[in-house]
Amino acid sequence: MVIRPPATEPEFEAYYAFRWKILRHPWQQPPGSEKDDCEEEAIHLAAWDDTGRLIGVGRLHRVRGNVGQVRYMAVDPGQRSLGVGKAILKELEFRALQTGIQEIKLNSRQDAVQFYQKNGYQLLRPSDTLFGTIPHFEMWKRLR
Ligand SMILES: CC(C)(COP(=O)(O)OP(=O)(O)OC[C@H]1O[C@@H](n2cnc3c(N)ncnc32)[C@H](O)[C@@H]1OP(=O)(O)O)[C@@H](O)C(=O)NCCC(=O)NCCS
Repeated sequence: MVIRPPATEPEFEAYYAFRWKILRHPWQQPPGSEKDDCEEEAIHLAAWDDTGRLIGVGRLHRVRGNVGQVRYMAVDPGQRSLGVGKAILKELEFRALQTGIQEIKLNSRQDAVQFYQKNGYQLLRPSDTLFGTIPHFEMWKRLR
């Protein structure tokens, strides 16, 4: 497995299509709903398996000062619980520190709370319910 930013236009297209397929399409959200206003400034990472197939994605952007936010973490359903998500998150955290980000906040889907807790994130409080059906929880980690 290799974890690196998408490097070409086709790789970015595959990256956003993957996000949409895992995080938006199952809830009938239209193409385009997988992006927000922070894409240009954000750090994007994807995981490719040994055959070059995209199997996971994740993104980090600066919220303010030394605070960053992780969004759009997603791993191929057939490749979960193999450490792909953890590897993407660790690399996002490494790159966050390199850019002066020292703490990360995020809004986790209910099903992913344990994943983030295992990676050192504290559960703070309930937040929004996405698409009317997916409860989210605010989580936080100090990197340094
Ligand atoms: C959440 C997600 C990105 C985790 O990716 P992953 O590659 O399966 O996670 P990893 O294999 O790196 O898991 C790391 C640890 O978290 C645990 N874990 C992963 N997902 C979990 C879950 N849903 N519930 C409980 N524990 C979980 C694993 O057991 C593993 O623990 P271990 O290190 O003790 O073995 C992935 O399950 C996913 O894409 N979910 C659907 C999309 C989603 O909800 N994204 C998050 C949006 S906030």
